[in-house]
Amino acid sequence: MLDQTRFYRLLDALLPRAGAPWDDGCTPHIHLVLFVHRVEGLAPGLYALPRSTAGERQLRAALSSSFTWAGVDDAPAQLPLYLLLRQDLAGIARMMNCRQAIAADGAFALAMLAEFEPVLRPAPWRYRDLYREAGQLGQALYLEAEAAGMRGTGIGCFIDDDCHTLLGLADRSFQSLYHFTVGAPLMDARIVSLPPYPPPDANQ
Ligand SMILES: Cc1cc2nc3c(=O)[nH]c(=O)nc-3n(C[C@H](O)[C@H](O)[C@H](O)COP(=O)(O)O)c2cc1C
Repeated sequence: MLDQTRFYRLLDALLPRAGAPWDDGCTPHIHLVLFVHRVEGLAPGLYALPRSTAGERQLRAALSSSFTWAGVDDAPAQLPLYLLLRQDLAGIARMMNCRQAIAADGAFALAMLAEFEPVLRPAPWRYRDLYREAGQLGQALYLEAEAAGMRGTGIGCFIDDDCHTLLGLADRSFQSLYHFTVGAPLMDARIVSLPPYPPPDANQ
């Protein structure tokens, strides 16, 4: 179980601000959809964290009209966190992420939803920029998960069509580019870890 304060601090670190790595002059085009499983004080369900006001407007127009967009009472005022759907999504998250248990058994998983056709139609070359932004988010998530006493794993194996169907996306205005999951680590005794560098040579 991830405590609420750490969860909010982690999410806050993903919002664009005047500081590294977000001070690169790029407009954010990726927004987060969270599958919350085990966060203290939060109902399990589907949540949205738009990373710009323009993005929030577009998401509200594009995602399923059945979503509640209910503000989360306890969340810090600067955090645009909304409950879309109150439901245990563990099974759905697992199936959507190539049946990987890590997407269901942790604190939360997420999908990085990129503004797609509106960005790429006038400038197809910005496809690479979307992946660069997804990579920055992945890096921040790895670090923040660790700082929250948890661990994170990027999820490159997911079924984007299933994700889009759950979200009620009927066109290509948004595209899920990359998934991620955060939870308490379990050591896998089958995997051997070796030191990254050889021990210092005593003769040198
Ligand atoms: C883009 C990306 C996608 C990944 N997709 C998955 C995945 O679908 N399932 C999984 O278990 N791990 C996934 N991983 C995690 C890797 O398997 C691996 O654990 C991680 O890169 C750390 O590797 P290392 O411990 O060898 O440094 C992904 C990592 C990255 C960067």
